[in-house]
Formats: sequence, structure tokens, C-alpha cells
Amino acid sequence: MHAPVTFVKPAEANRSAGAVMVDGCNRGGMAEEARRQPVGDVLEFAAETVDAADVRRNPPWQILIVDDDHEVHAITRVVLGEMTFEERPVRFLSAYTARQARSLLAENPGIAAILLDVVMETDDAGLKLVRHIREEMGNRQIRIILRTGQPGQAPERQVIAAYDINDYKAKSELTAQKLYTATVAALRSYQHIATIERGRQGLERVMEAAVHLAGLRSRSQFLAGLVGRASALVTNATTALLCGAGENGGVAILAEAGLPADPPAEAVADIAAALAAAPGDGQVRWGVRHGVAVLRGRDAAPLALCLLGGPFAEGDRPLLELLCTKAAVGLDNLRLYERLNEAQVATVHALGKLAEYKDEVTGDHVKRLGRWATAIARELHARGDFPQELDDWFCDTIGLASVLHDVGKVGIPDAILRKPGRLDEAEMAVMRDHASIGGSILRDACGGDRRGYLSMGAEIAESHHEKFDGSGYPRGLVGDAIPLAGRIVAVADVFDALLHRRPYKKAWDIAEVLDLLRAESGRHFDPRVVDAFLAVLTREGAGV
Ligand SMILES: [Fe+2]
Repeated sequence: MHAPVTFVKPAEANRSAGAVMVDGCNRGGMAEEARRQPVGDVLEFAAETVDAADVRRNPPWQILIVDDDHEVHAITRVVLGEMTFEERPVRFLSAYTARQARSLLAENPGIAAILLDVVMETDDAGLKLVRHIREEMGNRQIRIILRTGQPGQAPERQVIAAYDINDYKAKSELTAQKLYTATVAALRSYQHIATIERGRQGLERVMEAAVHLAGLRSRSQFLAGLVGRASALVTNATTALLCGAGENGGVAILAEAGLPADPPAEAVADIAAALAAAPGDGQVRWGVRHGVAVLRGRDAAPLALCLLGGPFAEGDRPLLELLCTKAAVGLDNLRLYERLNEAQVATVHALGKLAEYKDEVTGDHVKRLGRWATAIARELHARGDFPQELDDWFCDTIGLASVLHDVGKVGIPDAILRKPGRLDEAEMAVMRDHASIGGSILRDACGGDRRGYLSMGAEIAESHHEKFDGSGYPRGLVGDAIPLAGRIVAVADVFDALLHRRPYKKAWDIAEVLDLLRAESGRHFDPRVVDAFLAVLTREGAGV
């Protein structure tokens, strides 16, 4: 069974006289039969019903005939029409000029071979088409068999050396058997090149997927990314499911991509077998309509990646296996990252509590401060301000990192820290040390990690008392020299401190606090940060 082959001839019969194409055993009968075909009509070569799945499994080889002689097309179809190679039939496309051939090549990227004439609309139209295919289209896979009726126009030695063609045949010497042999050799060669190319592209996609997944820091994004990449990797996959062990011995779907589909019974059995498989069993279970591969991390329960659809290509199996191996390593790394992150969060909370024990300030201040700082950072990010510094990580980190802003107060004597009333100048000088003490403690703790809660906390601790006009402490930094996180926390810290009662002062009215923020914009505070904060307050109110 094979696909119906349609053959559409151009309206204008453009026969070139005298070209003899087929010689030998087929000269009489087959060539004569071809001559009897009505020119300008559509010829249906196959009448049998075609199973769409069969076509997907055994898609026809596409062969492009380019020749200005209609007879050559007809004879070629007669000679090669019934041929199959690797259980796949052939399908012909016809072009009568190099110009038509360019269009067909652009529309049909899967053409395996061209039977190409040289002299058509110009004496070298076929040769120019070869250049176009190889150099402009960049198509190195397609096999080109040059067939010329005027070898004088294109001498074999010169043409084979100068043009990237794969075979050269003079029409006068081309028997049906030789044409058949040349075509089979071309298809075999194309198949090998296509297999290597598919493998190369598949490996490239697996490596890209591994790099992409390795950059993800969220488990849900990782699992969704994995099934998305897997369904794009495997030929004709319609659905990808990532499964883990569910309750009561069942299977739980953790992520899915593609068309919604319940796995058929055989696939469910293979998923269960993959989840129960002993360590070391990394085999891919391959059915007609499904494939199941195992992801086995270092100290985690195995997961099963199931692909539905098909028919799958021969090279899909090792690619899926490789993707799962890479993804398992990625999941291990993600698990380590999550543990590290949890440890950092716990450390931040512990340090924050430590500072609370020393200070009169309640934990509520720290929580509100974190929420305000996050809201300001997100507002600035949404406005496109500070594009070099502000990203999702910054916005996700500043809330918790701001918990650490006053951690240096652990180094300030209680007599000063808890003194009711105003501090004198000498006491104030000691109090100011909390900024650099906090920075120093946290810098030591973060151990050179520049993208963590502790490193941002260090930055905030040592810069949250700097002022935009340079009159702050400990270093008297000016404007953008003050770390952005410190400029944001400065606004949020003063705002919340004024709005709430402290042992040494009453709570200010919101209007008074807003007046102060506006008055200090450009002096104490970065005006862009104040603007963003006022926008947040207008939108959300001050009662956070
Ligand atoms: Fe402070």
C-alpha cells in the first residue's frame, strides 16, 4: 500500500524534441505506455485506500523530477513508479523549469532526490539550480542526479568537479535499470545522511534542554520544562507525561505537555514497571504507541517519563534515554539547591531573631519592612527602572534579606541600645557602628556567594543608613553609589519606624510620614524609590 501519487502537468505542453531517455529493456513497452498518458491531465497512480497511520509509519520518498521534456517525466514515473525502498514507496513531484523547481523545493523540505536536467529555460538552468540548492538554501542532504541530453553543454568532468552533485548521467546512456540503480543509491545515501542529521539535531535538542533545565530554580518549572522538551524531541509524540508513585500503589501524573490524554493500559503497565524497576534498570520501555523512560536521581524515588503518539523514529529511544539521564542530574542539582536555599532561609530567620532579642523593635516591624521593600522593588521593576540591578531574583530576595538590616545591633551595648530618650553624640557614634558590624558579620557568613540572602543582607545592613545626598553613614556614599537594596530599605525602614510607636517616640500620623518622605526625596532618599513607594501606597494603602 502506498500514498496516491498525483502528477500535475502544466497547462502548456513544452516538449523538447529528440531527447531519448530510456534505453534497453523498457524502451518499447514502458516508454510507449508513458507516451499514451494524456498530457495536461492529472494522473492518479494509486487507487487503493491509504491508512494515514501507515503513511506516517512508511512515508513515501519524495523525488523531484526537473526537466522541460514532459516525456521524460512520464517515462520516469513509469520506470520508477512501483519501486519501494526500505518498505517505503516513492512519490514524484514534477517541475518543468528550474524556476518551478525552486518553488517546489521551498514548499517540500523533505525531498530526498532530484533527477535534474541541465538545459531548460537557459543552457545552464539546471547547474544554477544546483548552486541555489547547495549554497542559497543550504540543503546539503538532498541527492542530485544530473541527467542531461546535451552532454556538450555540461561536460561530465567539469560539472562533477565544479558542482555539488551526486551523480551524472547522459540521457542517451541511461537505461531503466541504471536509472533504478542510481535512484536507489541516492535514496540510501539520503537516508544515511538524514539519520545522522536527525541524530545530530536530537543531541543538540537534548543538550539545549539540559542547559535550559539546569537554569531553572523552581521544581514546577523544571517538571513542566522537561515534559515540554521531551514531547518536542520525540517524533510524532502527541503527549508527554511525567509520573511518580501515587497513593495506594497508583501512578500520579506530576506534569504533562501536549494533547490531554490518558495513557492506554499497556503504557500504564510500563509506567508502573518503570517506577518499580530496580536501580540500574534504566531501560526504555517501548510500545507501538508509547515509550516510557526512567529518571533516577541520587536519593529520590524514580520518576517515569511517558510519551504517547507515534509512530516513533528509530533514533528517538536513545535520545529519550539521554534526556532522562540529563534530567535526573538536573533534578539532583535542583534538590541540592532547594536544600541550600532552605538552609539560607533558616539562617536568615535565626539571625533576625537574634537581633530581635537585643532590640526593642518587634518582629512585626521586620515583617512589614520586608513586605514594603518587596513591593517597592517590584514597582521599580515594573517601571523598568534600574534594569542593570533589578530582576526577578532581586525582587524575590529583598524581602527576606531586609530582615537582616539591623543584625549588627548584636554588637551594640544594651545600655545604649535600650536607653530611653535621646542618645548623646558619643553614644550615637557607637550606635552607628551597627551598620558596619552587621555588614561584616554577614559578609563573613555568605562566604563569597554574591547571589544569596546573606550577601544581599550584608549590602542592606551596611548601606541602609546611607543618604542619597552623601550625608549618611557609615561611608557617606552618594546617589547610585549606595546599593539599590540599601536605598529601598532606607525608605521602607524610616516609613515603618515613624508610623509605629517606639519606646522613645510616639507614632506619627500617615500624612506627616508622607510629608517627610516627599521632603527628604533627593536628600535622604532616592527620588525614584520614593516615587515608586508613593505609587505602592496609593494603590495598596498603608495598612500592610
Ligand atoms: Fe539600622
